[in-house]
Amino acid sequence: MSSPISSSTAVKQPSSDNSPPSELALREIPGGYGFPFFGPIKDRLDYYYSQGEVEFFRSRMKKFNSTVFRCNMPPGPFLARNPQVICLLDAISFEILFDNSKIEKKNVLDGTYMPSTAFTGGYRTCAYLDPSEPNHAVLKGFFLTQLAKLHSKFIPGFRQSISGLFTSLEEELSDKGKSNFNALNDIMSFDFVFRLFCDKNPSETPLGPTGGPKMVDKWLFFQLHPLMSLGLKYVPNLLEDLVLHTFQLPFGLIKSDYKKLYSSFFNSAGPILDEAEKIGIKRDEACHNLVFLAGFNAYGGMKALFPALIKWVATAGEDIHRRLAAEIRAVVKEEGGVSTAALEKMCLTKSVVYEVLRIEPPVPYQYGKAKQDILIKNHDSNFLIKKDEMIFGYQPIATKDSKVFEDPENFVADRFLSEREKLIKYVYWSNGRETDDPTVDNKQCPGKDLVVLLSRLMLVEFFLKYDTFSVEIGKLLLGSLVTFKSLTKAT
Ligand code: HEM
Repeated sequence: MSSPISSSTAVKQPSSDNSPPSELALREIPGGYGFPFFGPIKDRLDYYYSQGEVEFFRSRMKKFNSTVFRCNMPPGPFLARNPQVICLLDAISFEILFDNSKIEKKNVLDGTYMPSTAFTGGYRTCAYLDPSEPNHAVLKGFFLTQLAKLHSKFIPGFRQSISGLFTSLEEELSDKGKSNFNALNDIMSFDFVFRLFCDKNPSETPLGPTGGPKMVDKWLFFQLHPLMSLGLKYVPNLLEDLVLHTFQLPFGLIKSDYKKLYSSFFNSAGPILDEAEKIGIKRDEACHNLVFLAGFNAYGGMKALFPALIKWVATAGEDIHRRLAAEIRAVVKEEGGVSTAALEKMCLTKSVVYEVLRIEPPVPYQYGKAKQDILIKNHDSNFLIKKDEMIFGYQPIATKDSKVFEDPENFVADRFLSEREKLIKYVYWSNGRETDDPTVDNKQCPGKDLVVLLSRLMLVEFFLKYDTFSVEIGKLLLGSLVTFKSLTKAT
């Protein structure tokens, strides 16, 4: 069946520059912000406690009959000076967030608040810089070059890290009858990223075999707690709200952990830091950026994505497992091993990875401030956004746009097979279209191709070893808790 966007009765294909077609009426942006202080607090309590994240957006979308509306985004007082945003919830209006000529991405990585730069050695790391700031091109260009140089290490490095994960998974399953995938995935992801950039096993550093992920987790929590709810039954909501969403937890409490993390990278990533100095980046600035890229961007992303990948593939059922295993084993046999070329030939595996990135984008929020008055459109109307207004895209709803994707709420393993692969331009997980490339002039994730490759590789390694499996799904602070209950070895 063809997807709605490709059928002749579908909405008009949006032009790639988001220029508003004249036939759509200009509509005032519905919604509002309420009274100062009380409005943002009400929205924050709705968001975390009375409605929950998804319902918060869906109920307003319904109430205003619009995928574009005004609301406050948490955390609000006293962490964010201005919590007022224009919220975008469809695949078309969302694209304005990728237009760096109209949108400023300075200090908006975490939304309407920014953690203290004490967490990053006093520097604003690359992810907080707008492309108009010269340091963005210097740092991003540097990392793009380093990633290109490390290309040949991606597949062997990941295969090595993941083989340790499988060994532990099997041991835990046979000892305890279950295994926490998230914990093993954290160790595997940190191990891979550290070895990639430092060419050393983290166990050979003061971090030890499991210290790295634990320290990064704490450091991430201290930066991201304003966006989290612990959901603890015995802690009253108002108390949690006060502790997590009102003030920034001080860096001093995790200073010694960060120092240990930083010095492990500083002492092990010599060659990369030498390269950075050669192009004029200060050694300590390069290292704080490396810790951020490895810990926040890469490890943080993999911490959310891989459990989601396993969860969706598990719930897709045994028939999909059989088809994935058959495809993967046939291609590996034909190609004589696991290579980039082999991964490229695995159509179902590719489609499954894109579908996971569509249905559960690992980084759900994107922000940007209007550099000028901007006319945007959704499927039905045009809207005028004024200069300096904050624009916010909630990706998990935007990539379930029923005018673009058929059966958008469901996981469809074949969704991006053959002809339909063109729909990946509406997959936005990397802060850009899946058909675009990260450059020094945009804010798209420079790890985009690596992440897609590793996700495919995870499925390949898994289905070379196992026929099928089952898991139990729970909820974590950011993402899903995945517990393996059974694993059937390849026959
Ligand atoms: C599953 C893993 C990953 C996910 C989900 C992810 C996601 C993202 C997203 C959504 C952004 C844009 C943030 C924004 O401005 O709104 C981003 C930016 C960035 N990512 Fe990734 N990323 C992942 C892995 C990586 C890896 C492996 C690297 C490098 C090795 C990396 C390096 C960066 C950097 C440096 C930026 C800032 C880009 C800029 O300032 O232009 N990420 N990532």
